[in-house]
Amino acid sequence: MTGQPRFSRRFEIFPEPEWEGLIDALIIHKGTAFLIGATDSGKSTLSQYLIERLISKNIITALIDSDIGQSSLGLPGTISAKILKTEKDIEDFIAEKFFFIGSLNPAQKISLMIEGTKKMIRMVRPVSEIILVDTTGLIQGEIGKVLKIGKVKAVKPDHIIAVQRHDELEHILTLLEDVPIYRVNVSRMARERSREARMRYRRDRFHEYFDEEKVHEFLLDDVDFFHNGKPFRPMRTDFQEGTLIGLNHQEETLALGILLELDSHSVAFKSPLKSVKGINRVVFGDINVNE
Ligand SMILES: Nc1ncnc2c1ncn2[C@@H]1O[C@H](COP(=O)(O)OP(=O)(O)O)[C@@H](O)[C@H]1O
Ligand SMILES: [Mg+2]
Repeated sequence: MTGQPRFSRRFEIFPEPEWEGLIDALIIHKGTAFLIGATDSGKSTLSQYLIERLISKNIITALIDSDIGQSSLGLPGTISAKILKTEKDIEDFIAEKFFFIGSLNPAQKISLMIEGTKKMIRMVRPVSEIILVDTTGLIQGEIGKVLKIGKVKAVKPDHIIAVQRHDELEHILTLLEDVPIYRVNVSRMARERSREARMRYRRDRFHEYFDEEKVHEFLLDDVDFFHNGKPFRPMRTDFQEGTLIGLNHQEETLALGILLELDSHSVAFKSPLKSVKGINRVVFGDINVNE
């Protein structure tokens, strides 16, 4: 995606002995694996480690990052994907494909989350031997259940990797029949991040992406407007300046933008895009980067 920041976040990973069995199973069976677990349970760290190990065995591995609140691959508010073949792909940890969700809270966009994850998997599947799907930490209660079960039903993964401290995932796992489930414990090295640290992380990622040096202003008319997965005709006051927008060619998000001004047929925004060629859909969400 245009202008996406290079985020080097390589830190030392302390692998758990029980991860070895998981790697063996993935190598034997290949296919799509869903990583589920609470926030800060170590899902992204485990994904990263699995990628390193699989790449070292020359297995082409795709990562789909559907954790829209604390994205590790793409930008917050998006589902992102990358196909990794070599050590260098791990170093250039930059997403190749994006699907704009426009919210930090998956509970508000369940069907869009499911649709986006499905689309991303479909896109990487023809060229990947193993697909790892990192997910949000929304696991609690009915809503966590609906989201995870919905995704599993839509995507039909070959494996579920369940990272849990106690039995916090069992209310979901019990409903997942026919899918092999690998239960692993939360690493002793897993650390909780504060609410402030999460907000800072998101702010930093947006700041870097929308760096004043990189953004330009654009005016687009003759595009379709979308919200919550549906076309709509906006009114000037529907969305405030600062609203994060997805700049799409059909369903694929080519870049993100920040809304400057809107009326029912045109939109002004800033974005690190070089040109608006090919953009025929502007997707609105609920994130305001000025707040
Ligand atoms: N095995 C591990 N080795 C080192 N650090 C870890 C390990 N597991 C988790 N952490 C740390 O714990 C924090 C939360 O892990 P993370 O993978 O981001 O969780 P999640 O993706 O489930 O929210 C991160 O700061 C990460 O560095
Ligand atoms: Mg994560």
